Formats: sequence, structure tokens, C-alpha cells
Amino acid sequence: MATPFISEVKRTHSCGALRASDINQSVVLFGWVQNRRDHGELIFIDLRDRDGLTQIVFDPNVNKEAHALAEQMRSEWVIGVQGKVRSRGMQWNKKENKEVSATNPNLATGEIEVVVSDATVFNRSETPPFQISEHVTASEELRLEHRYLDLRRSNLQATLITRSKMNALTREYMVKQGFLELETPYMGKYTPGGARNFLVPSRLNPGKFYALAESPQLYKQLFMVAGFDRYYQIVKCFRDEDLRLDRQPEFTQIDVEMSFVSQDDVFGIIEGLIKKLWGEILKVDVPTPFRRMDFYESMEKYGNDKPDLRFGLEHVVLTDLIKAQGAAAGVPMMEEAVEKGGIVKAMCIPAQYPLSRAESDKLEEYVKGMGAGGLARAKVGETGEWTQSPLAKTINPTLRQAINAKCGAKPGDLLLFQFGREAQVHTIMANLRVHVAKKLKLIPEYGSGGVWNFLWVVNPPLFEFDEETKTWAAAHHAFTRPHDDCVQYLETDPGKVKCWRYDVVLNGFEIGGGSIRLHDPEVQGRVFKALGIGEKEAKEKFGFLLDALKFGAPPHGGIALGMDRLAMLLSNAESLRDVIPFPKTQKGTDLMTCAPGDVDEKQLRDLSVKSTVAPK
Ligand code: AMO
Repeated sequence: MATPFISEVKRTHSCGALRASDINQSVVLFGWVQNRRDHGELIFIDLRDRDGLTQIVFDPNVNKEAHALAEQMRSEWVIGVQGKVRSRGMQWNKKENKEVSATNPNLATGEIEVVVSDATVFNRSETPPFQISEHVTASEELRLEHRYLDLRRSNLQATLITRSKMNALTREYMVKQGFLELETPYMGKYTPGGARNFLVPSRLNPGKFYALAESPQLYKQLFMVAGFDRYYQIVKCFRDEDLRLDRQPEFTQIDVEMSFVSQDDVFGIIEGLIKKLWGEILKVDVPTPFRRMDFYESMEKYGNDKPDLRFGLEHVVLTDLIKAQGAAAGVPMMEEAVEKGGIVKAMCIPAQYPLSRAESDKLEEYVKGMGAGGLARAKVGETGEWTQSPLAKTINPTLRQAINAKCGAKPGDLLLFQFGREAQVHTIMANLRVHVAKKLKLIPEYGSGGVWNFLWVVNPPLFEFDEETKTWAAAHHAFTRPHDDCVQYLETDPGKVKCWRYDVVLNGFEIGGGSIRLHDPEVQGRVFKALGIGEKEAKEKFGFLLDALKFGAPPHGGIALGMDRLAMLLSNAESLRDVIPFPKTQKGTDLMTCAPGDVDEKQLRDLSVKSTVAPK
């Protein structure tokens, strides 16, 4: 009678566990057939589970029936084997005509194999639509359609194992720091501002909708009002945004809120957590405290508030130099941009990275693709003169020298210029900087020294001017605390008000953001006024939080880290899709379950919802 696997014969080891020290042991392994090699007499199978691969050998002289079973086995069948561990030792190599070591140094279990004395097939598998291997060639669409097979691949398994470790380490650390893990609702009230919400119709309240939480922001502040002091949660958030490689419609935050803290206290907690994650997962010692940079410095030098500091190519703002020259500047287009309130920026590519004419033309195409009018350039000559540039003939020599000096340009260097509307110039130059760095291979490979450049970007403005509506809007959210010395400008010059908001950035990615909150109802009222939000409107939109702030809210602040982005960077993955078990595509669809899907008329009627889309 066949041996009763699972019920009586229990698994003794995972497929990644056995070593030379286990030789001669009797073992039981369960797993999937990675591949099968039939050497006539002997059949070899690599047996796989989440822990690794073990070579198992079927020998008819050991067990004829098991050998016969192995002849039928195919990739992805699920089997169980019982057998003895032996050394792979020496094997006759036909090609070399001599005995060579059969050990596989690339495999953790490579010194041993298991000679099968009994085997069972738990389940067969159809031929999978793509091969389960690390270096898969199948399209991402096909793999997403069969995500459960894609997830069998060792690299995706490693990434998800890392995520599981991240969760465990985060919980361990936060608990030690005195944080309580408290839950918040996913279905809440729609509040304006921030990201676009997913809406859920309420059957019991016809015509009304819940909003899926874009973050637990308001609730975590209420926890502080309720006196919980230190809160954290590893929590799903939902945002109906345009998707990118680093954006998913549902994603996970490590969400944190603390009472009686300053910005430095929040930074200390987060730096400690990141140090622990990087230390335990990558064995990398991340130096703390992280560098800090003023928001305005970041915008000036890098064009955005999430600079990649692994390479130079800093921007240089030339607006004031052009302004100072007035009509004598000799660069009419730049002058015009400045007159209209715009800015002029340059970036210097050192002579050691020469770009051909064709290559710099390509850069021009690249910036035009982002809406730029063109890419003005100048090559710096031996005596500081400019060549290969229409600007060369007209520019005032004093201005040229001043630009060279401000850019630190040396003979042979190439200057690239952008001018126009401030926001557009910053964005184009920020993207150009990264584009050029990739092209010139200035970004260190993953894992090489000094590659983890963490940064806090601090002191941003509280308000942003909305060019379309010509009004001030909250740059983050309306509950961020302004710097005390800026409160005086709330009514007179809102653009000047800096606030206690911060982002933590790693190698060009915003991995987290938060703020010290505004707990003072008087200043809160003035902020709303600056935003053009009257008392009635404020009550309608944020009533419950405003009420709560009146009942003894402690000073508090917090932050949320993007867990998926952390996992992506820790795993050197290129997209969030590689670190989320069941991700959505760029169009927000799930190719496996075919969500979002149709629902029938009756369901919509029950929800008092009518579709405006014509039925197919
Ligand atoms: P914020 O909106 O900055 O702050 O979000 C915090 C962090 O979450 C990550 N993130 C995303 N990750 C993947 N896909 C997305 N669509 C996505 N959107 C954001 C980013 C970001 O830095 N409640 C505030 C936090 C606070 O003030 O305490 C908040 O949600 O890494």
C-alpha cells in the first residue's frame, strides 16, 4: 500500500534547507516540479517550494514504482517524496571524459541530493502559459493574468517575503517605541482636497456615498484628541489617481501620529525605523540623522522636492543675473521670460561627459516632449567664450562670464538652459537632470557604496497659488501648522508662510510625508480665511475635526511612509507592481479577476445608482 503522505508522513524539511551536514538523513519533502531531466536509468527533478530548490533522484533500483511515477511527472506538478540525503559527490562527465564534482555552488542545497524511496503525486498541472523561472520572457500582461503562477517565481517570492519581514520589523519597532496599533475605517465621509476619492454608494441611505479613505489622516488626529498619544497602523489607502510606476490606486502606508512632539521627534522615530529596516533586511547601516534640505533649496537646485542626490548636475538659477543686465543682456528670449515673471535656469554638463551634436539634439526632443519650446545650449570654449550656440553672438560678455562663473563652467563644458514659467522650468529641468544622469550613467548601480541617499525636505510653503482660479490653496492639507514667525503673514502675504511639513526622500522617490498639525483653533480659522473657506463651509467640510480641536486637542504631528515604495527600493524593483501581490495595471484594472467589472441593473437599482454609460 502506498505511504500515506501528509496524514502520517509529515514534511521534515523545506526545499531550501538541506546541507552536507544532513547526509544520510531520512527526509520528506513536498513541493512543485521545477524541471525534470530523464537520464535513462536515473530521473532528476528539481523540487521547489518558497524556500528553494532541492535535487531529487529517482532510481529504479531503489523503488521501481516511484521511478515509473517520476516518468510521468511534469513541470508544476505537486509531489511529495521520502528519501535519503546523499552527497552529490563526483559524477562521470561524458564531455570531459572524466569524473567531475556534481555539486552546484549556485544553489544553497547544491552539495546534496535526495534519493527517493517513496513518492506521491498530490496534484497534476496543465502546462503553464509561461515558464516559472527567474528570467521570465513572457509579457507582463500574461503574467498578471496568471498572477498566482507569476508569484511562484523566486524573485517575486523573495520580494513578498521581504514585505512580510518589513511588516514584522515595523510592528516590533513601533511597539517598542510605545505606539498602539489602532484601526480606522476605510469607508468614511467624502472630504474635499487631496487626492480624488473612490466612492461607495450606500444602499441603506439612497443617494448617499461613502468615500474610501485616501489615508487615515483625520482619524489619526482624532486618536490624539482622544488621548492615545502614539498611534501607528500598517494600512491600505485608496486614491483614484492617474497611475505611474510608483503609484497604485490601493497602496499601503505605515501611518504614524504622535502627541506632544516637535518635527525633530517625528524624524527621530522614522529614522530609527528606516535604520532598522535597512539594517535587518539589507545589512546596510544607514547613517542618522538624515540630511535636511530646505524646500526652496531643493526646488532651486533640483527642480522638485524629491531630489535624487546620488549625482550632481545641480541646476543654477540665472534669473537675477539676467535681470541685473536689463536691456543690455543680449539674450532677448530670456529677458522676455524674466519680464513676464518667469525664471531662467541652467545645468552644466562637465567636459568629461562629451555629448555629440546628435545627442544634444535628442535632449532637445526630450524636453520638447514635456512642452518646452526648445533647449538652448552653449559649449564653453578655452577662454570662456560660447560656441555652438545662437546665444554666443548676442550675449553680453559680462553676463556670459557671470553665467560661466555661477555655473562653475570650465572649457569644454556644455550649458543647457530653460526659461519661462517657473513651475514648468523647474519640472522640465528636474526631469532633464535625471534623464541626462541615466544617459551618462552617473547613477550608481544598486548595492554599490553610498547608494542610499535619504533626505528630509523641510519648510515648504503652506499655500500654493492656483493660477487657474487665482486663489490660494493648501499645498498639503489645511491642518498643517505654520511657522510661528510666519503667522503674521497669513492675511497680508500668504505666499510667504512656511510650515511644519516634511517629506522624506530616497534616491528621487518621495517615500513619506507628514506634518506638525495645527491644533490652535484661532490660527486654524485664519488659515481657512486665507484659503477663502468661510465658517459655514469649514463646518460643512471638516466639522467633526474642528469640533474635536475645541475640546483640548494636544499639540500633535505625524507622518506616513509609503510601504510599497519602501519595498520597491529595498528590493531594487522597477515598479510597485513587482512588490504588490495582486497589483492593478496602469489603467487600474486587475487582469486576473477582470476587475472592475459589470454589475447588473438590479444591483444598481438597489444602490439607487444609474449608469450613464450606454449598455454594450
Ligand atoms: P501623503 O499623501 O504624502 O501623506 O502619502 C504618504 C506616502 O504614501 C505614498 N503614496 C503612494 N504610494 C503608492 N501609490 C500611491 N498612489 C501613493 N500615494 C502616496 C508616498 C507618500 O509619501 N496623511 C498624510 C500623511 C501625514 O500627513 O501624516 C498622507 O497620506 O510614499
